[in-house]
Amino acid sequence: MKILFIGDIFASAGRRIVADHLQDIRQSQQIDLAIANAENAAGGFGITPTIAEELFAMGLDVLTSGNHIWDKKEIYDYLARRAALLRPANYPMAPGSGVVVVTARNGVRCAVINLQGRTYMPSTECPFRKADRILDSLDSEVKVRFVDFHAEITSEKMAMGWYLDGRVSAVIGTHTHIPTADTRILPGGTAYQTDVGMTGPYDSVIGVQKEIILQRFLTALPVRMEPASNQVELHSVILEIDEGGKAIAVKRHTVQGD
Ligand SMILES: [Fe+2]
Repeated sequence: MKILFIGDIFASAGRRIVADHLQDIRQSQQIDLAIANAENAAGGFGITPTIAEELFAMGLDVLTSGNHIWDKKEIYDYLARRAALLRPANYPMAPGSGVVVVTARNGVRCAVINLQGRTYMPSTECPFRKADRILDSLDSEVKVRFVDFHAEITSEKMAMGWYLDGRVSAVIGTHTHIPTADTRILPGGTAYQTDVGMTGPYDSVIGVQKEIILQRFLTALPVRMEPASNQVELHSVILEIDEGGKAIAVKRHTVQGD
């Protein structure tokens, strides 16, 4: 089966390129399950119920998130009732869930797991031990297991890849908005990439207008973040997973906006 995972959808520019290209990717690449990280979908900060429904209607099956999931207050109730929107599983007391089992279009049941790193991130439960507990709790018949590891530093992400190698189908990183060139399959059969990269405006500093971020670095004064809008790119990975849940292929798939 084939899984598409789209990296951090940033603001309206990110949503637009997904709307423009998702159906074409689903059809041309014969995608059975489409997942995206959407924590920055609302103006670059958080996601609203309306925007989540808009993304599901485009053809995304599961949305993952990260530290910005809490930015819009109206998402708290929605998280509790909409299982296909995940928040990181290792927040100790929070609405919603960090794991969901869904049935892909080919009829295969798949687990999608969302975890968050702890280095330069909020202080959450240990994502490694949380992953152990989640994997122990899953139905053993659910062989296809996808992990979005939302974390800042490359070493923590790579460590998670090795920790889960052979136990999940894929560990793909999000959060930095910078795609990395280390896409590969680890020896145990787990597809890995440190960061899939942002789906949004690359004429920016990680999505925000570059002049604003430069001002912040030059003055250390607070600034009002505004999303950029130019050089929009969609960054994703396409995974091919066998019946036993092992990755047999992984490739980066990038689309340049108009
Ligand atoms: Fe993040």
